[in-house]
Amino acid sequence: MAYTVEQEIKRRRTFAIISHPDAGKTTLTEKFLLYGGQINLAGSVKGKATARHAVSDWMEIEKERGISVTSSVLQFEYDGYCINILDTPGHQDFSEDTYRTLMAADSAVMVIDASKGVEAQTRKLFKVCVMRHIPIFTFINKMDRDANDTFELLDDIENELGIATVPVNWPIGSGKEFKGVYDRNERTVRMFSDTQKGTKQGEERILSIDDPALKEEIGDEKYEQLMEELELLDGAGAEFNQDLVTKGELSPVFFGSALTNFGVETFLEHFLKMTYSPLPRMSDAGEISPFSEDFSAFVFKIQANMNKAHRDRVAFLRICSGTFDATKEYTHVQGGRKSKLSAPQQMMADERKIVDKAYAGDIIGVFDPGLYSIGDTFTSAKKTFKFEGIPTFAPEHFARVRQIDTMKRKQFMKGITQIAQEGAIQIFQEYNTGMEEIIVGVVGVLQFDVLKYRLNNEYNVEIGLENLPYEHIRWIEGDYDINKISGTSDMKKIKDLKDRPLLLFVNSWSVGMVQDRNEGLVLSEFGRD
Ligand code: G4P
Repeated sequence: MAYTVEQEIKRRRTFAIISHPDAGKTTLTEKFLLYGGQINLAGSVKGKATARHAVSDWMEIEKERGISVTSSVLQFEYDGYCINILDTPGHQDFSEDTYRTLMAADSAVMVIDASKGVEAQTRKLFKVCVMRHIPIFTFINKMDRDANDTFELLDDIENELGIATVPVNWPIGSGKEFKGVYDRNERTVRMFSDTQKGTKQGEERILSIDDPALKEEIGDEKYEQLMEELELLDGAGAEFNQDLVTKGELSPVFFGSALTNFGVETFLEHFLKMTYSPLPRMSDAGEISPFSEDFSAFVFKIQANMNKAHRDRVAFLRICSGTFDATKEYTHVQGGRKSKLSAPQQMMADERKIVDKAYAGDIIGVFDPGLYSIGDTFTSAKKTFKFEGIPTFAPEHFARVRQIDTMKRKQFMKGITQIAQEGAIQIFQEYNTGMEEIIVGVVGVLQFDVLKYRLNNEYNVEIGLENLPYEHIRWIEGDYDINKISGTSDMKKIKDLKDRPLLLFVNSWSVGMVQDRNEGLVLSEFGRD
């Protein structure tokens, strides 16, 4: 079917999936693809692990295939929608990557393990969603295992994350007793059939809540319990309010089991209706409508090619307006240059393909000649503009970098700057001391290892890292003079790559102390361009 540009944009849904590792993000993503008809698991499954890796664990599959650029963006079609899923790294040490990915998403799906509730990593990622005011949908997974009490799970989300919840459906039992879910809108119960451990779609039987057959199917006890729970829910729970959902203040909650497919399609159907096609984005020239004639996009992720032989990089762009046309030239606003974007590619289920056209809402990867940085804008507009910068998140671990072979200064600086441009680490220097020493900050300690490995492997530079005791970093808002700040003994003044002044602290107590001592000083946990 041929769509107009406007229809193409309207049918797009771009969302990120977040979760604490092991909650089932990968499995759920895979099931979305199954329903989208992009993969046929039934014939291909040898074991769960193989099935999972075959689809969205790009790192692994690429290792196998010898392709070295890792990506985590998938596009597929479902029921007339064109869906872009932004997968996020599960390991907490790479959560910064997740933060940036969320900047490219229009909504987020939070996967929670029903037997665990809200976990540490969910909490952290959730904060970013709240900051962006994007709609957050909750999928409570693993209902095929014994789950926590449903009301407790909801309370947990509300208390831990501070967001109101509204269950769109309600589980009937859990573990071996998981019978299906009750759809509150339709007042029907979806009973699930065997999906052969999730390898095929499975038949869903729909029964009205008033159907006498329901009681027979689920048994008297479960039926009574369901009635009681629904009464409680109707009396005490929040009502569905699309406006609050859109603002990210109310999270619609769904229950299911990604592994066995229970509730996955119901979730997908409701979710697609409750989310929006791409919305306008803020720039320094005001809001940019997705339907604007001009193409525009920003870089939210840069991925280095891990293959030594091709040390090129891929910049991931989120298209914010118009149509991307591979034959046209676009202005890289921060670089002040106009050129074609080379090797534009998109990931479709299990293959990577070169694209010649893409629309607002889509994510494309383009070859980065080493000139692009995270947050950069591209546009076809004559009067150029910049999209709002992507916040830099506060590193929590700091180390002083020592170069083992001091002769390789140039190489070292090039390597460390490029890795910092990719956003894998942040680098700082002492403020005003003229010392050349580099301080590196990371969100997760594993990134220190990655830095060491990559400098050695890709740039042939060996480094030593000396851990520093700092745990808190603050950007100084406005134009407060850093030289006038009266600090504490454990405070250190530093600057970032863009010469912005920052402060490092050993403990949060000192942060408060410095704030109190210096009137008018505004310290921020995020750095903005
Ligand atoms: P993640 O991406 O969020 O880290 O989670 P992932 O999908 O990899 O799932 C983590 C584990 O939880 C996997 O098992 C997966 O099979 C299992 N899982 C996912 N969804 C469900 C569900 O709805 N019910 C149940 N019972 N399990 C689920 P694993 O043992 O770590 O991997 P595998 O070796 O079995 O593949």
